[in-house]
Amino acid sequence: MKLNEKVRSYWEKEPCGTAEEIIGDAKPLSREWFNRVEKYRYSIEPFIFDVAQFKRHKGKKILEIGVGAGSDHLQWAKAGAKCYGVDLTDAAIRTTRKHLALHGLKSNLKRVDAEKLPFKDNTFDIVYSWGVIHHSEKPEVIIAEIRRVLKRGGLFIGMIYGRRSVVAFKYWLKHGLFKGRPWRSFADVLWNHFESVGTKAYTVPELEKMFGDFKEFEAQPIITWHDVSKWPVWISRLFPNKWGWFIALKASKQSNK
Ligand SMILES: C[S@@+](CC[C@H](N)C(=O)[O-])C[C@H]1O[C@@H](n2cnc3c(N)ncnc32)[C@H](O)[C@@H]1O
Repeated sequence: MKLNEKVRSYWEKEPCGTAEEIIGDAKPLSREWFNRVEKYRYSIEPFIFDVAQFKRHKGKKILEIGVGAGSDHLQWAKAGAKCYGVDLTDAAIRTTRKHLALHGLKSNLKRVDAEKLPFKDNTFDIVYSWGVIHHSEKPEVIIAEIRRVLKRGGLFIGMIYGRRSVVAFKYWLKHGLFKGRPWRSFADVLWNHFESVGTKAYTVPELEKMFGDFKEFEAQPIITWHDVSKWPVWISRLFPNKWGWFIALKASKQSNK
């Protein structure tokens, strides 16, 4: 089976952020179910609003890659953006469509592999993708597709996992050191044990290279709940942001190419 087929079958079972411990006894896809999904998401990742700045992009044509349960997609739609969204799974497309419909909102949603986007060159003002690209077999192909479909001067906003992070270290302790296999690399334990098989994580210099065809590029690692959980609070307070699991990204496409 090809990697992206395995990635798809993993996320078809349950869109991201909709695990039982989050949604409890709420009726699936009900307003209460979505409220619980959103409440949990923004309680552990409140910085999404600072990074995405949804409200600044009213009237812009945006494409979200990897919509998941649609919480961020709803923010784009509520902010008045012209929304397009893709995901590898039917589950995510169905869930996101329902999520927006409960608020009387719509988007152009399609199940596709973002390694081949069904859009013309220079189509979108913004492409947004939070925690998605690192799951795909060829992240560099998605990045080239993002650049292709962005209008000249358009902006990519997103997040990709960081390898020099506390999360990567915790996974190495659990699946490497404590299993008597300390030679396993951070990349190897993340590939095999974090979410869908084939998950990758990068350093800032690696990301700078991957986004080398863009004009401006900013990468900001952020310490997250995923990094600090399970450590005594006094220890976790010592973690600098550069050890963060999330690397928030902004990259703009040249205005003349
Ligand atoms: C960790 S979830 C993130 C979802 C959402 N952005 C969020 O933050 O909750 C990863 C999502 O990426 C999607 N995905 C993975 N590889 C993809 C690809 N090649 N093309 C489109 N979507 C993909 C998965 O189906 C899944 O919905």
